[in-house]
Amino acid sequence: MSEELLYAGKAKSIYSSDKADELIVVFRDDITAFDGGRKDVIPGKGEYNAKVSARLYALLEEHGVPTHLLALEGPVRMRVRRLTMLPLEVIVRNIAAGSLVRNYPFVEGSPLDPPLIVIDFKDDSRHDPMLNDEIILALGLVTQQELEELKQLARRVNEVLRDLLAGLGIQLVDFKIEFGRDVDGRIRLGDEISMDSMRLWDSRTGASLDKDVYRFEKGDVLSTYGQVAARILGGE
Ligand code: C5P
Repeated sequence: MSEELLYAGKAKSIYSSDKADELIVVFRDDITAFDGGRKDVIPGKGEYNAKVSARLYALLEEHGVPTHLLALEGPVRMRVRRLTMLPLEVIVRNIAAGSLVRNYPFVEGSPLDPPLIVIDFKDDSRHDPMLNDEIILALGLVTQQELEELKQLARRVNEVLRDLLAGLGIQLVDFKIEFGRDVDGRIRLGDEISMDSMRLWDSRTGASLDKDVYRFEKGDVLSTYGQVAARILGGE
């Protein structure tokens, strides 16, 4: 068993595993906002995000979306397929909020129908600038066919998660996902889907149930994440 740290991101660390084409993702308790401008450690956060991510990946697999998930191997450890990640942040928006209302004349809270798909270039040094199809293709990041596949998968992910969460009294405002190619070249969902990467509003009260609680100091982050995890994980 040789576990070697390959990469430490802002909230997750990636280790090699006993198998060349499998990796271990460790969900840490670190939380950051504003391009890493604010950082804290919230003990217990990693476990909630790991469990929610694993549950959502499993659900998405059941609905035909290929993901990197293999198994949750402990409270914060996820065994995943090794992917070569694409430097893209695919953002799906059902309701106008966040940077969309800061940068464009959308009114916060207004529905976006059909949902908007926006793709950002994942590069902190450039502050993740928004891409368009022409730039993505000119940079050779994916083929035209893969780009269509990414958008189709993102729409499918949105439908599955939006329906699940609506049934739990949660509005899926928007979320960010990342994709990679597996060893066979197949596009799969990687990274995480958690309260750090989704914007969630309580359907009844409109209260934030996600990282905005940390970003804008709206309340107790851990208990908010815990409430969302309890709703998503149900009786697990
Ligand atoms: O900040 P913005 O409104 O563009 O974020 C849209 C969605 O994408 C939010 O749910 C946010 O949490 C997520 N996001 C993310 N990582 C980023 C940028 C956005 O998880 N680097």
